[in-house]
Amino acid sequence: MVSNKNMLVLPGDGIGPEVMREVRRVIEWMDRRRAVSFDLTEGKVGGAAIDAHGTPLTDETMADAMAADAVLLGAVGGPKWDDLPFAQKPERGLLRLRKDMDLFANLRPAMCFDALVEASSLKPDLVAGLDIMIVRELTAGVYFGEPRGIETLPNGQRRGINTQSYTTDEIRRVAALSFELARKRNGKLCSVEKANVMESGVLWREEVTKLHGESYGDVELSHMYADNCAMQLVRLPKQFDVIVTDNLFGDMLSDAAAMLTGSLGMLPSASLGAVDETGRRKALYEPVHGSAPDIAGQGSANPLATLLSFAMALRYSFDLPDDADLIEQAVENVLAGGLRTSDIMQEGKARVSTTVMGESLVREMDKLAA
Ligand code: IPM
Ligand code: MG
Repeated sequence: MVSNKNMLVLPGDGIGPEVMREVRRVIEWMDRRRAVSFDLTEGKVGGAAIDAHGTPLTDETMADAMAADAVLLGAVGGPKWDDLPFAQKPERGLLRLRKDMDLFANLRPAMCFDALVEASSLKPDLVAGLDIMIVRELTAGVYFGEPRGIETLPNGQRRGINTQSYTTDEIRRVAALSFELARKRNGKLCSVEKANVMESGVLWREEVTKLHGESYGDVELSHMYADNCAMQLVRLPKQFDVIVTDNLFGDMLSDAAAMLTGSLGMLPSASLGAVDETGRRKALYEPVHGSAPDIAGQGSANPLATLLSFAMALRYSFDLPDDADLIEQAVENVLAGGLRTSDIMQEGKARVSTTVMGESLVREMDKLAA
């Protein structure tokens, strides 16, 4: 065994456990073929944790997450827990992980695999070869801003309040990481806000511009309003390289970008914290898709987003870029070979289950590594 890598696995709800099972298959393959061993701890999050422990994330699981080299999460939520009070909902488990681990940068790549060009809702020539990276700020903004809540006014009306708030540091750290990423890619960063209507957007634009002048003059920086960005993403997506934006705009723009690639079932994400004194950074990897309760338990979910999230863990947490490349290449090949889960099914292709997709991927990895 070359090394031990400590990973916390949180399958969560809905299709989470099904897709996570396929990751285990790949991990076993790596154990066998690459002599890379992972120490896996499994825990509960979201509805699964509510059912077992009465809370969407226990303090023990939170402590495990803080201690792990990486956390791999499936998905949270479902109709069963929809009526719970806000503070007890499954989503709160995920939000607490992000906040307490201080995972301020959420990387959401939108890459269009050649074999899926036809599955996109856009014309093939608009998405062929698409490779953009959305960096979403993940621990501030309206998701966490205070004051928040629902209050009753003296006149009996109720008022719901959330606060969009960003500090200099919150903007600068996610912008710096985005400039660094752009440097390693095609050297272009587009910063997205609504400085035309929001003071937090004005500050965002000023700070990103200042940082650019201080340290990243070699990166080509542009600015765009969020509504225009949504439009440009469906008009001419290949104009972008890296996009950096706030928590809420990032949530929406990344779903839109995901669909360009054919299916939400294909897109991975990495959420990263700051590098600490030991050179380590906290990290959580999860597919962009949700728990998909409508198809849970049927064995039809697409495991590729979760498998690609694991590949991101190999790249960003475990410094195993070759193995990450291997998984990504195997995904490309399996798709080129005509296998499709229901979400990416096309005429003339073979519809396969979650398990068959996972098994085929491992077989492809075997071939590639031979
Ligand atoms: C996402 C999801 C989450 C979010 C939900 C599940 C809380 O939509 O990761 O994009 O809004 O951040
Ligand atoms: Mg979302």
